[in-house]
Amino acid sequence: MYSKEYFNKEFDRNKIEEKINDPFNLSYHISPITGWLNDPNGLCQVDGTYHIYYQADPLHAIRKNIIWGHVTTKDFINYNYHEPFIFADTSLDKDGAYSGSAFIIDGKINFFYTGNVKYPGNYDYINDGRDHNTIKIVSEDGFSYDKKELILSNDDYPKDLTRHVRDPKIYEEDGNYYLFLGARDKNDKGKVIVYESKDLEEFSYHMEITTNYAFGYMWECPDFFEIDGKKFLMVSPQGLKSEEFKYQNIYQSGYFPIDIDLKAKAYRLGEFVELDYGFDFYAPQTFEDESGRRILIGWMGMPDASYTNPTVKNNWQHALTLPRELKTRDNKLLQKPIKEIESLRKEKIEIKKHLEYFIDQFEFLAEGINEEFEINLRYDAKLTYKDQILSLKLGRCGYGRDKRKIRIEKIDNISIYSDTSSVEIFINDGQYVMTSRVYSEKSLFKSSIIGTLYEMDNIKWEKKF
Ligand code: FRU
Repeated sequence: MYSKEYFNKEFDRNKIEEKINDPFNLSYHISPITGWLNDPNGLCQVDGTYHIYYQADPLHAIRKNIIWGHVTTKDFINYNYHEPFIFADTSLDKDGAYSGSAFIIDGKINFFYTGNVKYPGNYDYINDGRDHNTIKIVSEDGFSYDKKELILSNDDYPKDLTRHVRDPKIYEEDGNYYLFLGARDKNDKGKVIVYESKDLEEFSYHMEITTNYAFGYMWECPDFFEIDGKKFLMVSPQGLKSEEFKYQNIYQSGYFPIDIDLKAKAYRLGEFVELDYGFDFYAPQTFEDESGRRILIGWMGMPDASYTNPTVKNNWQHALTLPRELKTRDNKLLQKPIKEIESLRKEKIEIKKHLEYFIDQFEFLAEGINEEFEINLRYDAKLTYKDQILSLKLGRCGYGRDKRKIRIEKIDNISIYSDTSSVEIFINDGQYVMTSRVYSEKSLFKSSIIGTLYEMDNIKWEKKF
């Protein structure tokens, strides 16, 4: 259990200062107030306010149990931290209020999430020994709710599945609601299962979506949406074999373009595309905001990775990516930090070739490139484009992160967002992205190509609950 009472008793406000004073504390990214953070959850905008929840253990930098942390913003510049939103405090979710999402109807936020329950004993916790409950809560304001309602349990899920069935996401079409869940079947095949509902109360099994070839043993955090008339199924598959230019991390996140007739239960998946080629990107979630933008936020971290984060000694770990607007081009998704981020720009510097600049909190833009290049992002962090291969190489500042690469025929433009201890690199209008944490005591920026650099301001934290 991880109840509100337990949290209030154990939470030490002094730890907040400790975290803020960490030299690696991020300046314009969301990170936990203290402790651990993983997946973004329940992303939505209501009455102008964006609610960003996330998997959190504010009491421990290495998670013990998981609840939902909560921040809000109206403009992505001024933020508030709030008390955790969903605690793990019932028999349905006692070992973790796992990931979930939000769906707004008539101004009310309907949250669906996974209640994790582990039985004491000697189990493999895959085929036996745990429950993954799909739970619903309804909130008027994003801060409070009356009850936790059990919607589906392992007894309801198809019999060919293991106990791993989680991370609900709702999609609405023609007055029908479809609930997507990520799953691992008994043959260790990853898939998504879909339930249908007319009222978000009663759900009936509708269909499964999977590849006809082996593609990982588990698909976490499904998302399903339409942009410009094209549909996409986003998942975070586990168990893909690493290749030289593909699947270089332990787990992946990406999307299938999908032709689907949900009513007729007929679909065809296109080829899986990775959303990110850096070291630290996982479990992204999207939502449509009140102005109709499809915004994606990812976890700027990687579960079970061999590399580490020195922030742990200051009692916090991980962060969220910048919010990125999704667009499409040729059936591919393009990611671009939302336009609000531009208002963080401060001094503008026209970068001269090979000159050294001692700065690490910046945005760098270069267009019309069409040549090979080398960019130092830190003293020992280098981005190189040579022989049609873009590689990000980190030295000591990678804390075990070594090299990631992408094959790209031609690079036209690049934009790099660097924060105190992170880099997000967008190539060719965001068709390729590399996200990584980087921990360097010495800042250095140096480029073999010209471009424009803006120093970036901090986001502001008003309320710290
Ligand atoms: C993805 C994930 C989800 C799960 C959550 C638990 O990182 O494993 O599948 O709901 O994290 O924190």
